[in-house]
Amino acid sequence: MLSCKQTWHTAFHLHLLVHVLAEGATRVYYLGIREVDWNYAPLGKNTITGQSIANDMIASSFLQPAENRIGSIYRKSVYKQYLDETYTSEIPKPSWLGFLGPIIRAEVGDTIIVHLKNFGRRPFTIHPHGVFYKKDSEGSLYPDESSSQDLKKDDAIPPGRNHTYTWTVPEDHGPTDDDPACLTWIYHSHVDAAKDIATGLIGPLLICREGTLKSVSQRRHDADLDFFLMFSVVDENESWHLDQNIASFCGDPSTVDEEDEGFRESNKMHAINGKLYANLPGLTMYEGDWVNWYLLGMGQEIDIHTVHFHAETFLYRSGKTYRADVADLFPGTFEVVEMLVGNPGTWLLHCHVADHIHAGMETLFTVFPKHDSVLLKTNSYTETPPEDEDNGHHFVLFGSKLAHSQVEATIIFLAVTGVLLFLIACTFLGVIIYLQRQKRLRRNRRSILDEGFKLMSTKKH
Ligand SMILES: *[C@@H]1O[C@H](CO)[C@@H](O)[C@H](O)[C@H]1NC(C)=O
Ligand SMILES: *[C@@H]1O[C@H](CO)[C@@H](O)[C@H](O)[C@H]1NC(C)=O
Repeated sequence: MLSCKQTWHTAFHLHLLVHVLAEGATRVYYLGIREVDWNYAPLGKNTITGQSIANDMIASSFLQPAENRIGSIYRKSVYKQYLDETYTSEIPKPSWLGFLGPIIRAEVGDTIIVHLKNFGRRPFTIHPHGVFYKKDSEGSLYPDESSSQDLKKDDAIPPGRNHTYTWTVPEDHGPTDDDPACLTWIYHSHVDAAKDIATGLIGPLLICREGTLKSVSQRRHDADLDFFLMFSVVDENESWHLDQNIASFCGDPSTVDEEDEGFRESNKMHAINGKLYANLPGLTMYEGDWVNWYLLGMGQEIDIHTVHFHAETFLYRSGKTYRADVADLFPGTFEVVEMLVGNPGTWLLHCHVADHIHAGMETLFTVFPKHDSVLLKTNSYTETPPEDEDNGHHFVLFGSKLAHSQVEATIIFLAVTGVLLFLIACTFLGVIIYLQRQKRLRRNRRSILDEGFKLMSTKKH
């Protein structure tokens, strides 16, 4: 009977586990706001023409420091990710992210917790697009009728202070059947949204269907690579650090006229992730890779961008699937295009607006030739994303291929069924033992009675 009791406990715990899984994962992020000196063109040249910035008339008007020009280096405030609440070990991010904050990923049903600490010199926040939040986690300062002081703490985190933001992803915030598997969003500071974003406080947020993300790396099961690119004319004249930048980087700060249109124009950085003229590193892939390009448009009325990929086409899903090689972006619009890369070489990737090309909104990506393992990996004639060929993440059960989350669900289902069967068997066995014992007792009673009769009859004699 003891073993049956233990089984009950196990069954109860399994029930809790199922409950937890059904509730989705909790994804915790420690983000810190830090100041950095950001170089929009650290290579000192236009990598596409090979010309040095100093010798390029247009590039130098944006990037060459002078008496009354800031040049290519600007102080910015950015989001960085840390390992824990000590905010001492920074989690490195891919070089191609530029000054964008770390990628926050979650699935439908998950809870995202962001512990944000402000190491900057002004109040800042974090405000997400596309997820569910209550008033204490909106991260926006405006007269929103929030009465209690606790509901205002998220609106502006003073320097040196912190706040914890909780966002959830209910079913009605997830991708629909007509959407791609993951929706592209952003997060940014929203004390003064325009100025906070121009200062550098923006990053990518990805919301996926259940079962899309690997549990450890958080990368997608159904793709080889993810790249997030923000096309934005970053207006450094709008940055909170403008005065500091003039003081630190202009040859003679006293000659600067902040009202001068030429000065203002020199601070408009036509950037992809904060780099100009193909100074953005790390956009490399292999022929045959299935690549998701998440494209973010930000800025103002000049920020109408047409993102053109040389040598490759991509698929754009919006109910139906379309093929194109140019994607449109407006300020505050986010798109994902899917590309089966098939043409080895180093290729241009740029905004197709003529003025923006001149001003440096271009970069390069490199497709390495297919190597043997990749040859096995993808059939280049299919237009569906590759099944995850990484055997470590796939299981075959009863002849069908299952993803990690499906395997978890199956194991729990089998365990619960096993426990139930065991309980039924225990009960059945108990009944049989009881009946047996009753039978034996009756037999014993009968033999005792018999003995009694025998005794009585011998006494009579
Ligand atoms: C966050 O702020 C609280 C007080 O508001 C403080 O007790 C705590 O130590 C802070 N945490 C960090 C990591 O700074
Ligand atoms: C640039 O920004 C400064 C500070 O916000 C402002 O005073 C100035 O008018 C701006 N210049 C132009 C040309 O808009």
